[in-house]
Amino acid sequence: MFQQISRLAPDAILGLMAKFRADSFSHKVDLGVGVFRDLTGNTPILECVRRAERNVLAAQTTKSYVSAAGREEFNTSVEELVLGATHVARREKRARTVQAPGGCGALRVGAELIRAATPSATVHVSDPTWGNHAPLLGSSGLRLERYPYYDPVTHELQFDGMLERLDQASAGDVVLVHACCHNPSGADLAPDQWRSLIELMRRRRLVPFLDLAYQGFAEDLTLDVAGVRLVTESLPEALVATSYSKNLGLYRERVGALTVVSESESQANAVLSHVLQIARSIYSMPPDHGAAIAACIFADSTLRADWITELASMRTRIKDMRLLLTERLRAATGTPSFDFIQGQHGMFSLLGVSAQVVDRLRERHHIYMTSDSRMNLAGIMPNNVDYVAECIASETRDGTL
Ligand SMILES: Cc1ncc(COP(=O)(O)O)c(C=O)c1O
Repeated sequence: MFQQISRLAPDAILGLMAKFRADSFSHKVDLGVGVFRDLTGNTPILECVRRAERNVLAAQTTKSYVSAAGREEFNTSVEELVLGATHVARREKRARTVQAPGGCGALRVGAELIRAATPSATVHVSDPTWGNHAPLLGSSGLRLERYPYYDPVTHELQFDGMLERLDQASAGDVVLVHACCHNPSGADLAPDQWRSLIELMRRRRLVPFLDLAYQGFAEDLTLDVAGVRLVTESLPEALVATSYSKNLGLYRERVGALTVVSESESQANAVLSHVLQIARSIYSMPPDHGAAIAACIFADSTLRADWITELASMRTRIKDMRLLLTERLRAATGTPSFDFIQGQHGMFSLLGVSAQVVDRLRERHHIYMTSDSRMNLAGIMPNNVDYVAECIASETRDGTL
C-alpha cells in the first residue's frame, strides 16, 4: 500500500520552526510561529487558567465520555461571548453551538456542514489568508476561490475589489471573513465596510462564515465581535468558528466551537443533527480538559475578571511592540514606509517585502518570518527591536522590497 505514496514537502511553518531551532546564533529572532510571547519570550499559561485547572481537577469525578457536542455550559458561554446574551438569534432559538477541537476543528466541521447542505457551494476566502484555511476547507471537497482583500505593497485594504469580486459569486456561496485581527495582514474591516459587505451578501444570497480566532486581541472582547454581531443580526444564516487557543492561551488543549445561525428553530435543529453526525464521523467527541477550564473561567466572576485583565495585558504588549517597531523602523530607515504596522490589529502584519528579502533576513541576520513576510509582533522584544529594525532597514535601503 505505502509503496504508492511519496514523501510530501514539509509544512512551511513547521519547516521554519525546525530551521530556527537549528540556528545557533544567540540573538536569533522568531517572528514566524503564530503564538503569543511575553517579554521573556515565553508563551505563558494564564494565571486564571492555572487556577481554573486546579478547580477542574479537584471537582472531577470521572473521565467518562461527555458528548459529540461537548460541554453544554461551555457552548452556552461561547454563544454569550460571541453573539451576546440577548442576541435575536438566541431569543428566537435559531443559534446552535457545539464545542470543537480548536478553531481548526470548528472550521473543518463547518466546511463539512456546508458540503452536506450545498455540495456545489464555493467558499470565497480572502487573498491573502491564513495558510491553513485552504487545507481545512478544501479537504471537505468544497471549491475555494479568493477575493482581493489586502495589498501587501500599498498596505491597503482592497475593499472595492473585494465587493466587486463577491458581487459575481453565486447564490448559496460562502464568504469566509476574519472576524478581527486578520491573519496575516492585521487589516480589519471598518464598521461601514461590514455594513456594505452585509448588504452585498444579502443581495447576492451569500452565507457568511466568520473565523474568530483572536477575540480580545484587537480592542476588547465586545468590540472585537462587533462585525460578528452585525452579520448574525442582519442575515438569516451564518457560521462562526471560534478559537480559544490565543485569548486563553489554551493552544495545545484544542478548545474551540462552531456556532451556526439558521433561519428558523426547526432548521437550527436539523443543522445541529448534521453537525453532531459530522463530529461523530471525524473525531467522535471533542477533548474535554481545555473546554472544562474555559467553562470554569467563563462562569466564575473572579476568574473571568482576571482573564479580562490578563487578556488586556497580552493585547497591550502587542500594541506596545507595534508602536516601538514602527518608531524604530522610522528612525532606522529615515522614512515613514513602515508606519502602517502601528495601526493594524492582532499579532500579525505583513512587512510587504519579497521572499528574497525574507530569505536574506533569515540567512544573514537570523530573523525568521514566513515567506509572505508575515511578522508575529509578539516575537518583538524591547531588547531585539533595534536589531530587527536595523536589519530590515539594511535589507531594504536600496529600495528593494
Ligand atoms: C485565522 C485563524 N483561524 C483559526 C485558527 C485556529 O486555531 P486553533 O485550531 O489552534 O484553535 C488560527 C490559529 O492560528 C488562526 O490564525
